Amino acid sequence: MNYQIAIDGPSSTGKSSTATRLAKKLSFIYIDTGAMYRAVGLYCKRNNININDEEEVKKVLNKIKIDLYYENGKQEIKLNNEKVSDAIRENEISKYASIVSTYKSVRDKLVRMQRRLAKTNSVIMDGRDIGTVVLPKATLKVYLIAEDEIRAKRRLKELLDKGQTVTYEQILKELKERDYRDIHRENSPLKKAKDAIEIDTSYLSLDEVTEKIYKLFKEKVGNEK
Ligand code: DC
Repeated sequence: MNYQIAIDGPSSTGKSSTATRLAKKLSFIYIDTGAMYRAVGLYCKRNNININDEEEVKKVLNKIKIDLYYENGKQEIKLNNEKVSDAIRENEISKYASIVSTYKSVRDKLVRMQRRLAKTNSVIMDGRDIGTVVLPKATLKVYLIAEDEIRAKRRLKELLDKGQTVTYEQILKELKERDYRDIHRENSPLKKAKDAIEIDTSYLSLDEVTEKIYKLFKEKVGNEK
């Protein structure tokens, strides 16, 4: 039997860090759907595609091949056979990903891929629309939130650790803009699924969040797993 855990929520609420830990603990496959939108954004940036024009983006979608795979227990991503796991994390790509993810054509392509990946494995998938659209029948749905200022500080640390040049004010402003775009877009906007359990991660450690979700999962499936 395959299980599905859906983790949604705004950026820097701890989705991918907890999903990675939980996937290890449960021996599930972790699927970072944001990485896929970032890969589309990266392709558009590198090829000077006008991302504000859906038709322009739509035209190049069939030229974009994305592969998610595991290397030494870590999820990596290839864009047209080139490993781009680090390149998609550049701060500028967050904005590109958020803009291209508003387009139906982009979402249709990536959601199809995501559902295919979830068919053959037990998965933990994180994103914005996993519980509402991609895996509406997921075994467990979790919605993570955290205070804006705390999220901005987490993101700032992550980017500074990677050697990127950013300021707290810039990050907080960009984070709010991205939230607005993700929440107000017409296609699969970010929202909590009716049956999702909300966890505020503002004052919890990654281990505490992971443990909470692990317990919720165990409660759901009883002794099955
Ligand atoms: O999780 P992230 O920051 O890597 O995601 C980058 C962008 O991709 C985010 O601004 C919204 C979009 N996204 C989405 O629309 N749907 C998903 N399932 C995952 C990400």
